[in-house]
Amino acid sequence: MEKIVSLCKRRGFIFPGSEIYGGLAGTWDYGPLGVELKNNIKQLWWKTFVIRRDDVFGLDSAILMNSKVWEASGHVGGFSDPMVDCKKCKSRFRADKIDVKKGCPDCGAHNFTEIRSFNMMFKTHAGPVEDSSTEVYLRPETAQGMFVNFKNVVDTMRPKLPFGIAQIGRAFRNEITPGNFIFRTREFEQMEIEYFVRAEEWEKYFDLWLAEMHRWSEVLGLEIHVREVEGEDKAHYSKRTVDLDFDFPFGREELYGLAYRTDFDLQNHLRSSGQELNYLGEETKTKIVPHVIEPTWGVDRTVLAVLLSAYQEDGDRKFLKLNPKIAPYKVAVFPLVANKPQLVEKAREIYSQLKTNNYKLGTIVWDDRGNIGKRYYAQDEIGTPWCITVDYQTLEDNTVTVRDRDTAKQERISISELMSYFENKLA
Ligand code: GAP
Repeated sequence: MEKIVSLCKRRGFIFPGSEIYGGLAGTWDYGPLGVELKNNIKQLWWKTFVIRRDDVFGLDSAILMNSKVWEASGHVGGFSDPMVDCKKCKSRFRADKIDVKKGCPDCGAHNFTEIRSFNMMFKTHAGPVEDSSTEVYLRPETAQGMFVNFKNVVDTMRPKLPFGIAQIGRAFRNEITPGNFIFRTREFEQMEIEYFVRAEEWEKYFDLWLAEMHRWSEVLGLEIHVREVEGEDKAHYSKRTVDLDFDFPFGREELYGLAYRTDFDLQNHLRSSGQELNYLGEETKTKIVPHVIEPTWGVDRTVLAVLLSAYQEDGDRKFLKLNPKIAPYKVAVFPLVANKPQLVEKAREIYSQLKTNNYKLGTIVWDDRGNIGKRYYAQDEIGTPWCITVDYQTLEDNTVTVRDRDTAKQERISISELMSYFENKLA
């Protein structure tokens, strides 16, 4: 884990939040490389689950919502973690994450406060008056935006059951103990789908979404372990939940979740808002309130799991074996040496050509610092799948070397074939 945290800081993936002021617990900032990686993950997810499908519709709802949403959803009453303090060293813990009988994990004392329930929603005020009538919450999940827009999507898109609403966005939780780098933070991003089904078909679609989640994890090279969440560990809205766990260096922990939320949310909003949140079946002409299967993916936990899985050491060589589709940079272009104008000019030409096609390929970078070995080393470490080198032979026959990150092998490719070469690799 230390290697990944250090690589992230050193190479511009992830920095501590508000660092020059000593930081702010539970916050991290994504740097130039991190934002590319994160955006690529989000785009791949959107393409996979929204653009490539006919039955899932996108949404981008507001983070601030009417407080009644959170009362109806059960979050005001029930979105709490149990909290306990050590009276001796004043450390604070989530009571469900430690064994209270074994004493304080920090000082060993057996002197805890009572376990209290702590609501994790961040509260603020909309407008200048700070009283209870202006209180609003920062959303702790993106899901509710999809439930309150259910009718809007049904009325505008006229979907047939089953169908889904998908959203990527920020969520905020006042975690008692944020930690383990970007694993548990107070501000994070989720990629969620609320998939509306007929009540009697929930098991079928639960299994189908579990299979989709497996496929997604395979594409990213993540080994996941499915765990049935039992009893009180399930969220208040769920009748069945499985967590998809990943072996993080600090233990096997939840990466993603899949829940059968029944009609809990729609029924609550229907009762609380007085609006009709139902679906008129064309076939039966009866109104039904659909049930919901919810696959949910944490973006930041994906970034962490992807980095941990991709990190490889081969002697002195360190490289990130990222799926090229999500690698921050796709191709780096170098002149063999930086002090031969003909080589630099030719390399610049290729770089510009590829760069004008970056909507197809992704980010293309230029590097002429140091020697070629150092440049390969630097690109390997940030996971760039291919490096193009323009050398003396290029000036004679218009071919370049393309070096593969994973094998460190080079092949000669004609300049005119470069675009199709990379397009094929990224297909
Ligand atoms: N709408 C359902 C829901 O929010 P969740 O299991 O509480 O379910 C979904 O959260 C996902 O969000 C988790 O599987 C995890 O990937 C991510 N997540 C939750 N809390 C997080 C935190 N404090 N920091 C980073 N990611 C978090």
